[in-house]
Amino acid sequence: MEIKTFIITGANRGLGEAFVDVLMKRKDCFVISISRSITEKQQNYSVENFYFLEADLTDNILDKKLNIIKKIVKGNEICFINNASIIEPILKIEDISIDALDQTILVNIKSTILISKYLLLHFNNLKLSFVNITSGAANRAISNWSLYCSSKAFIQMFFRVAESEYKQHRFFNIDPGVMDTKMQRSIRESDFPDVLNFQNLKKDEKLKSPKVVALEIINTIK
Ligand SMILES: NC(=O)c1ccc[n+]([C@@H]2O[C@H](COP(=O)([O-])OP(=O)(O)OC[C@H]3O[C@@H](n4cnc5c(N)ncnc54)[C@H](OP(=O)(O)O)[C@@H]3O)[C@@H](O)[C@H]2O)c1
Repeated sequence: MEIKTFIITGANRGLGEAFVDVLMKRKDCFVISISRSITEKQQNYSVENFYFLEADLTDNILDKKLNIIKKIVKGNEICFINNASIIEPILKIEDISIDALDQTILVNIKSTILISKYLLLHFNNLKLSFVNITSGAANRAISNWSLYCSSKAFIQMFFRVAESEYKQHRFFNIDPGVMDTKMQRSIRESDFPDVLNFQNLKKDEKLKSPKVVALEIINTIK
């Protein structure tokens, strides 16, 4: 059986946690979670199947922390799922603090570029897949979401350019749709012109389950 390594950012809750749940049911996966914390369930997984690379994506030594990956990767195939993302601050542009701007750039943009560069530099000889969890917001302007919309659009384009440079590897931009996660809760609790639509999605039970979405995405990229 050929083992495949999955590297997932933000795997401790929401869609990222759901990816781990789905992959741990399979026997052919080694998962590396690049996250700030680990769930109780994940603590019980064997080191043969699951590795917790504890990291804050805003950390300025993130690139050094990635070096462990070279030592632990299994198999001839790596799939990077670029999942972690922040939506806050949901504010008009004039009210955005410099600190919030830096956080969005580090989590939503810079960390993705660093991890992609690391994999392309060190594992170009393996079969690589890059899966960017994007959003409808990358292509639709939503008032008060300037940092989120534009950072999602940035990485979507980054993946398209990467695809043009590395034709031997696979690159995906996948919009998961609106899911029932903490991110949606913070959207509903925010103040912006379109908030009622998001509150109604929850009220009308229109939110997707992250587990169902994770399974669909894993089946799409296989
Ligand atoms: N939910 C939706 O409706 C929806 C719709 C379209 C697209 N998406 C996209 O789907 C993906 C997953 O979203 P979600 O709804 O699952 O979000 P979520 O529940 O808010 O989870 C976000 C994940 O990112 C991690 N994260 C945030 N800041 C971090 C940092 N500095 N360092 C390390 N990890 C960090 C969080 O970890 P901590 O617990 O440590 O904060 C968490 O694991 C995102 O890319 C999002 O843009 C979501």
